[in-house]
Amino acid sequence: MTVVWRELTPGLGAEITGLDLSQPASAETAAALNAALARHAVLVFRDQAMDPAQFTVAGELFGPLMPQQLKQFVLKDHPLVGYNSTHDLPRKNGKLQVRGENYHTDHSNEVSPPKATMLLAISLPSHGGDTQFVDVRQAFDDLPGDMRQRIQGLRSRHVHQSSRSPRSFAKLSEEALQAIPQTWQPLVIRHPDSGRPALYLNTGRMEGIDGMADDAAHALIEQLYQHATQPRYEYRHVWRQGDMVIWDNRSVMHQANADYNPEELRFLYRLMVQGVPLQAA
Ligand code: SIN
Repeated sequence: MTVVWRELTPGLGAEITGLDLSQPASAETAAALNAALARHAVLVFRDQAMDPAQFTVAGELFGPLMPQQLKQFVLKDHPLVGYNSTHDLPRKNGKLQVRGENYHTDHSNEVSPPKATMLLAISLPSHGGDTQFVDVRQAFDDLPGDMRQRIQGLRSRHVHQSSRSPRSFAKLSEEALQAIPQTWQPLVIRHPDSGRPALYLNTGRMEGIDGMADDAAHALIEQLYQHATQPRYEYRHVWRQGDMVIWDNRSVMHQANADYNPEELRFLYRLMVQGVPLQAA
């Protein structure tokens, strides 16, 4: 089978067909995939069929795997493999709620947040449930020069759930909450592989900006969030059976959509690849 690469948008996302990730891959293939991830930020692999063990091996092509923060959403026999399911959260006033609504980057409260997150589609609804991605590298590049200068050097404290979070997070016991770290992160990071600067935003977890009054800090965060989530920075992934998608958490934010029929199961396996401490740009 021939491996075919196709750009999904001019700056963001690439689709790969003809590569079976359930089979062993060479070091050259792994290097090419990692280079493509650093460049395109979202990779979509079509027509994959993997059990959790094979998915784990495929994940390791991108680096050592990282444990999931929320232990209630992991497979019993494969604790590194998490899942996103229609049944994760209770319905609110009869309406479906899903984890991952509102654009965010994963586990930004960790000292070394995940390099990448991977989802493998196991069961999909007939319509909806897309995942959206926005390019926070391009969003930074497009800011006016005075704004770029103003925010470089600022840092924000990332916690489990910000007091200003636009979404609710899974409820945790006091003990589980204590185990979850809080970390100061730069507002503008430098990508560890490509060197590109990028906005680093997570409105659900950001608890203010160092040295700024709370209202002013959150107004600035909101202004940057509104800028970065414009449609011109977006790739919207419409899931197909057999899709495996990996994204770089230092280059994109992503969000889930609770817009599908809750009687239809949406179930995806999830892996995270370990990252490194973030450096300011
Ligand atoms: C997430 O991992 O934040 C959710 C993505 C999705 O289920 O579409």
